[in-house]
Amino acid sequence: MIRLGILGSGFGSNMQAILDAIQNGELEAEIVIVLSDVPDAYILKRAERAGLPSGVIDCRGLSSKFPEEAQRETADILSQAGVELICLAGFMRLLRPPLLSAFPGRIINIHPSLLPNFPGLCAWTQAVEAGAHESGCTVHYVDAGMDTGTIIAQASVPVLPDDTPDRLHARIQEEEHKLYPAAIAQIAVKLERE
Ligand code: GRF
Repeated sequence: MIRLGILGSGFGSNMQAILDAIQNGELEAEIVIVLSDVPDAYILKRAERAGLPSGVIDCRGLSSKFPEEAQRETADILSQAGVELICLAGFMRLLRPPLLSAFPGRIINIHPSLLPNFPGLCAWTQAVEAGAHESGCTVHYVDAGMDTGTIIAQASVPVLPDDTPDRLHARIQEEEHKLYPAAIAQIAVKLERE
């Protein structure tokens, strides 16, 4: 059974969807650790409630940078936990070599747009403001860029004429919660064969 490490900075609804899929028997996996760079993030409360090991990544008071030392510490914690696949779920810092090179081809992310369209922050607002007729979500491998890694899976969501950014985001999230567990299941099979 594949051992997952989840990194998130916020609400943790994608982490919850992964956990639900495991508990429903739809995904053969185990969440072995949940880490957050935000000490009071709700994702940590969810982990605690579910009895999952969790911890805080100490980013030395920096608001958006992920210091090299913190990346090294994170890689060590994940390795010690026996993590085979790192799933970013609303993690708001860019990963760099100390962490990326410790888990080559084993870090994935979910982004709320059809990449390569609308990378970066508030992708749902970008879609509404651009007048797009379609958006969605993408699961992709993580590289050192911002939402630039190889695409694994996508689901599309129509942008409705009266959509607000919030309404679109809510509908995209519904798709995320199905797509992410399904993509993890697909990767687990692939990694098992390697
Ligand atoms: C999701 O919309 C995801 O696509 C983006 O950040 C959001 C995280 O939401 N990367 P949650 O914390 O999983 O609820």
